[in-house]
Amino acid sequence: MPEADVSKKEKNFHTDVPQKNELFFLKGSNNYDWGMKNRLARIFSPASGRTVMLAFDHGYFQGPTTGLERVDLSILPLAPYADALMLTRGILRSIIPPSTPRAVVMRASGGPSILKELSNEQIAVDMEDAVRMNVSAVAVQVFIGGEHETQSVHNLTRLVDAGMRVGIPVLGVTAVGKDMVRDAKYIRLAVRICAELGAAFVKTYYVEQDFDSVTSSCPVPIVIAGGKKLPELDALTMAYNALSAGASGVDMGRNIFQSDAPVAMLQAVRNVVHEGMKPREAFELYSKFKNSVKK
Ligand code: R5P
Repeated sequence: MPEADVSKKEKNFHTDVPQKNELFFLKGSNNYDWGMKNRLARIFSPASGRTVMLAFDHGYFQGPTTGLERVDLSILPLAPYADALMLTRGILRSIIPPSTPRAVVMRASGGPSILKELSNEQIAVDMEDAVRMNVSAVAVQVFIGGEHETQSVHNLTRLVDAGMRVGIPVLGVTAVGKDMVRDAKYIRLAVRICAELGAAFVKTYYVEQDFDSVTSSCPVPIVIAGGKKLPELDALTMAYNALSAGASGVDMGRNIFQSDAPVAMLQAVRNVVHEGMKPREAFELYSKFKNSVKK
């Protein structure tokens, strides 16, 4: 039996204080249910509105990518510095400790390897299993202009329907085919299609020209992929420029785990994303961290 409320203290209903009714901090996300918002708030920092996602899902189509030969050795030491881990369910269950406080964004499409036509993907994770793994979002590749464009868009919409039932957001990942021009016109098209069809956030590549037109015409947050390994200062500059042009974070892989000093690089990226640190200053921080690890 619960105890009766016998306190002698006078009740205070604060009748003069209206209850706060705050808008959700993330672009385009105000009309989701509580669970969906809570998951998005695990990926994106409510303080900065931004995220540093660490991408190491590359093995789902290209096997043991350079730097990911041993995910246990290369990635686990990085996890404390990321807001979210983007990975496959195979790696989650085999390598990632369930005690991790990091948000998980799970690759949920796949099929072809680098030896075949990459756009021929299907859904690769059932939403019931995504719930079982307590993921914060699922990610699906969308190949606009690719050979299997419609199939990949259908993968997205099926995952959005399944995710809406259980409160799991979908990350639409725009893939740029080998023969396609990677410019703002193409990226605008690809990210807008993902958002229109229900992606809660979209991952794409940064382009130097007119990236602000990509972010402003996309009604949901955009995170940028890192792409091929660049010199550290260039990668930090790319992240800074993308954020200045309206991106909400990075989902970076090779530019972190293929760096000479991955932990130092990830910390420098964090400072650019969450603190607005300028690229040159972030590079100095990277060099300092790198040297302190060597000593
Ligand atoms: C590739 O399709 C994967 O989704 C990667 O997560 C993505 O390319 C980001 O990694 P990176 O920064 O190495 O491009």
